[in-house]
Parts: sequence; structure tokens; C-alpha cells
Amino acid sequence: MSTKRYDLVDSGNGTRIPLDVRDGTLGPSVVDIGRLYAEAGLFTYDPGFKATASCESRITYIDGEKGILLYRGYPVDQLAEHSSFLEVAFLLLYGDLPGRDQLESFRRSITMHTMINESLLRFFNGFHFNAHPMAMLSGVVGSMSAFYHDTMDINNARHRDIFAHRIIAKLPTIAAAAYKHSMGQPFVYPQNRLDYCSNLLHMFFAVPSQTYEIDPVAANALDLLFILHADHEQNASTSTVRLAGSSGTNPYSAIAAGISSLWGPAHGGANEAVLNMLETIGSADKIPKYVERAKDPGDKFRLMGFGHRVYKNFDPRAKIIREMCHKVLAELGNNDSPLLELALRLEEIALEDEYFIERNLYPNVDFYSGIIYRALDIPKSMFTVMFAIARTVGWVAHWQEMIADPARKIGRPRQLYTGPDRRDYVPLDNR
Ligand code: CMC
Repeated sequence: MSTKRYDLVDSGNGTRIPLDVRDGTLGPSVVDIGRLYAEAGLFTYDPGFKATASCESRITYIDGEKGILLYRGYPVDQLAEHSSFLEVAFLLLYGDLPGRDQLESFRRSITMHTMINESLLRFFNGFHFNAHPMAMLSGVVGSMSAFYHDTMDINNARHRDIFAHRIIAKLPTIAAAAYKHSMGQPFVYPQNRLDYCSNLLHMFFAVPSQTYEIDPVAANALDLLFILHADHEQNASTSTVRLAGSSGTNPYSAIAAGISSLWGPAHGGANEAVLNMLETIGSADKIPKYVERAKDPGDKFRLMGFGHRVYKNFDPRAKIIREMCHKVLAELGNNDSPLLELALRLEEIALEDEYFIERNLYPNVDFYSGIIYRALDIPKSMFTVMFAIARTVGWVAHWQEMIADPARKIGRPRQLYTGPDRRDYVPLDNR
């Protein structure tokens, strides 16, 4: 609790309601309005949660003004430089960096859970050949709750831990099955001798008719992208997972809800939308036309990969990915640089434009990630699936934090009702 307090004053009769303030470790304090309805008969109104903390959390911190992102206190740029995705997953789930033995045992557990039930695999035959992979992913992840009854007691810490390992291990396998289905190729089983990202590449790109050599540059690039996407505090999909999970539903259903939320173009679907946009723009001379469209309030077109609810400065993840783009494209010898050149030019033009300056609109994590995925031969429709694989770690960490909280309550927002007042039913003949 803070020493600070606010009073809510009714300007009509002068009644004062004292509101406590709570301080976090970092970032703005919050006004605790929990007693407001009981004491003043008032709700608060904040569509889109622009100024509302929906929960208390110890996992991730963002300073949107300074462009800072910390996982359990560690700056994401340090983790990107020195850590690995599975080490970051351990950090997010358990709160501290693992020791050597802890990391090894975590890695072994994730590796040993990569197989999926054969019946689950058969679900894919039911999907149309051109089904979007995100549709398959949310459907199949939701249906995992029909397979793991043995470990779905959400009040059992051991069950929750097994769920966490299972879902993190199986997401790449399910994603690869969705990819193979869309390509009309046979499913490739996971290989436990491979690390997390090499195994993913193997399941995506190996075919029975020839040997597939894993390019370590590609595996490292994926690992880095996954670190950067692993968590981002109370974003739309994470809040969805928390809200769905707050009812006590099984965690697979809660994660499936998160996947559905991530798919939207304002959220994780933006990486696919950025590539579509760059391809539509086509060449640098057309950029001004699209920038003008993005600025026109009468036009629904937005610069995809630009702007963020929290960052009013450079998204630190976008900075890292932009640098990485040059390196990865050069190392892979991939001829995709015209797209990167176009993206860089678009960024330059937008960042000099008064409209974007005034509104603090900077490139976000999705602006450059698609260019790397594309260089790794991952098709556009799979971009958001890749994001989902990484973000599953964050979703699980938040779900765990919420379920383990003894003060857990079902999430149940209020509303400002503006519909019709009470009225009596009119029989059909009298209408
Ligand atoms: N292009 C053009 N104008 C924009 C853009 C954009 N990308 N983003 C925001 N604006 C304008 C918006 O029109 C508004 O202008 P005005 O004040 O004149 O009405 C102002 O900036 C504030 O925008 P907002 O929509 O109120 O801001 P928000 O915090 O509600 O939305 C956002 C944040 C990310 C949804 C939005 O910036 C956006 O739609 N960006 C494009 C989609 C995108 O890249 N999403 C990925 C986000 S990062 C990864 C993730 O979350 O998964």
C-alpha cells in the first residue's frame, strides 16, 4: 500500500470517498477502486483498458515511454543476446534463471513431451486443405482437453506443471501438423535428439523422400524471435487467457481462447498483415500514397506493424529484429532484401511524418519479424502461428500466476447500459 491516497469528491454534495493507492516495484501506482460500487454506487468506465490494471503480476514489465521490456526483471535485449528460448521459458514460468541441472531437466521434460496423440493428429484430415493454420491451431489446442483428463485438476500444482510442459512441448508439433496439412505433405514426427527450434524446422521442412539438413542460422534466428515474443504482460491474448481461465475452465481451453485473440490483425495477426501490406505497396515510389491513406481518418487502412498501446517510443523488440534482419538475410544468402529495403524506407518516411511523430507511432515487433520468417521459408499464413508458439510460454506463466493466487476471482467486468428502459411485451398482433 502507498502512503498516497486520492479522494473521489461528489461535486454536488461534497461527499468524499477515500481511495487507496497501491505501489508496484516499477511503473505507475494504481488507485484501488474495489470499494467504489459499495460506497458510492459507481462503476468506472475505461473501454479498451487504457488506464486500468486488470491484475497484479510479477512476470513482465514494460516502460512504454522509455521502450523498456523486462522479463522477471531481466532486460529483453540481454536475454536476446545471451539466453535461449527454453531458458527464457523457465525464467517466465518459475521466476528465476535456472541452474545448469534445472535447465537440463526442463529441456529434457519439454523434449520428452513433443509427441501428440495419434487421434489428435487425425483431426487434421477433417480440415479443408486451405484452412488457415491459426484456425487449425485453436481448434486442435482446444481439443487437447479431451485427451489429458489425468492432469487437468487446476487446483493441483503438479497437474498445472505437467500441463505447462505438455503445451509448450506440443505446440510446435501441432503447428507443424497444420503446416504439413496445408502443404498436402505427410506429417513428420518430432525428433528428440534435436533442440526446440531445430526440431520445429525439421517437422516443418523434412520430407520422407530426402534428407533434411537443419541450418543452424535458421534455428538460431527462430530461437531469438521466440525469446522476443515469449511474453508481453497484459496484452489482448494474455488477458483473454486470464479471463477465460478465471472461470476455472481447463487450461487447454483457456490457451485456445488466447490463440483466437492473437489471430486478430491488431494483435499477432499483424505480422502476416505487414507482409501483405509490403507486397501490396510493391515499390518505394508507392510508399507516399499508402502513408497518405494511413493518415486519412476516412480510410480504414493503417500502417500495419506501426503503433502500440503501450510503447510510445521504439518497441525494443523491433530494434533487435531490425538488426537481426540484415544479419539473417546475409547469412542465409536469401534474396529477400528488396522487401527489407522497402520496409526500411517505409519506416524512414513514416518516422519523419508529423502524423506519426505527433501520435508516437513507431514500428512494433511485427514490422520486421515477417521478413525473417519469410527468409526462413515459412509461409505468411504461418507467421501468427510462430508467434503463438512463443507466446504460449507467456500465456501459461500468466495462467499459472492467476490460478495459484489465493485471492483469485472470476473476471467479470461491469458495463454502462445504454439500451432501452424497462418496457412491456407487446403481442405480435399489436405490433
Ligand atoms: N497507422 C495509422 N494510424 C495509426 C496507426 C497505424 N498503424 N496506429 C494508430 N494510429 C492512429 C490512430 O488512427 C489514432 O489516431 P487519432 O488520434 O487521430 O484518432 C491514434 O494513432 C491512436 O491510435 P489508437 O488506435 O487509439 O491506439 P491503440 O492503442 O488503441 O491501438 C494498435 C494500438 C497497435 C492496435 C494500433 O496502433 C494499430 O492498429 N496498429 C496496427 C496493427 C499492428 O501493428 N498491431 C501489432 C501490435 S504489436 C504486437 C502485438 O500486440 O501482437
